Amino acid sequence: MPSKMKAGKDLLIFAGKFMYSFWDTLFHYIVPRPKKNVAGEIVLITGSGSGIGRLLALRFAHLGAILVLWDINPEGNQETCELAKKAGTSRVYTYTCNCSDREDIYRVAAQVKKEVGDVTILINNAGVVTGKQFLEIPDECVEKSFDVNSKAHIWTYKAFLPAMITNNHGHLVCISSSAGLIGVSKLSDYCASKFAAIGFAESIFSELYAQGYTGIKSTIVCPFFIKTGMFEGCTTENPLLLPILEPDYVVNKIMNAILEEQVYLFMPRFLYFVLFLKSFLPTKVALVLCEYLKIFEVMNCFTGRVKKD
Ligand SMILES: NC(=O)c1ccc[n+]([C@@H]2O[C@H](COP(=O)([O-])OP(=O)(O)OC[C@H]3O[C@@H](n4cnc5c(N)ncnc54)[C@H](O)[C@@H]3O)[C@@H](O)[C@H]2O)c1
Repeated sequence: MPSKMKAGKDLLIFAGKFMYSFWDTLFHYIVPRPKKNVAGEIVLITGSGSGIGRLLALRFAHLGAILVLWDINPEGNQETCELAKKAGTSRVYTYTCNCSDREDIYRVAAQVKKEVGDVTILINNAGVVTGKQFLEIPDECVEKSFDVNSKAHIWTYKAFLPAMITNNHGHLVCISSSAGLIGVSKLSDYCASKFAAIGFAESIFSELYAQGYTGIKSTIVCPFFIKTGMFEGCTTENPLLLPILEPDYVVNKIMNAILEEQVYLFMPRFLYFVLFLKSFLPTKVALVLCEYLKIFEVMNCFTGRVKKD
């Protein structure tokens, strides 16, 4: 076919697909997409011993999923297991796994494959925060932030993605943060690791799309502060635009995003606007906006989860 005709044909196909995708998205903005059935799916949640991970486990239990719960804290994880059983699933498997250790991830992943089967929904949720000014952060904390908040995602994908590819079926969920979209003072290691998590999840999403694995979905979650205790002491001066989120609200949104196979979820909605502004506002103007929103002060009273003796 002459190259001009081919270019014209490609343009027509592109225009058709573009219009279809655009109207489909707009339509489903008004009419929610049908929710997928997760009964019988093998759902692995890292960091399931408390907070968002625990609440997600309870929601999946209620929907009849088979749960694989990973946490470094066996007591917290056992509590989640008991609550999940009460919430409706008899098939809950708990594993103590240190997600900052690649060998431990591979060891426990092999055990899961043998004892439970191939994971079909992988939720990388375990997270740690240091909450100090950059020059005060011990090197080991920087390493741990990267190990848990981003590198663990890579190792778990390596362990569980091959079976998803074989079956062209699965869902990869990355719990990142608003701190993975915007650099924040006193969160340098956390922001860097959460940016990395998004970059990784987005790359795999695009790689799977390019290879035609349309049966493997991705969801990337970026919430602002949540009242789980992880960011205890943090404040917001703009509760209307940037409220500190309720865990139940966050988990409802995450569950909707997973069940409707939504790729990006930012919470609160104002974050979509902030990201849009970031793409074109001159830096001087953006800094004035950050000052107005008191973004530089959000971490000033951070204490984090206070360890019990
Ligand atoms: N709480 C917030 O304000 C907030 C905001 C945005 C994003 N997030 C992200 O949401 C996710 C869940 O946070 P949360 O608020 O439920 O915190 P959380 O502290 O309640 O839960 C984190 C869980 O991860 C586990 N964990 C930590 N290190 C681990 C390791 N090395 N191996 C295995 N498990 C480990 C902890 O034991 C804990 O159970 C995290 O990735 C966090 O970064 C939290």
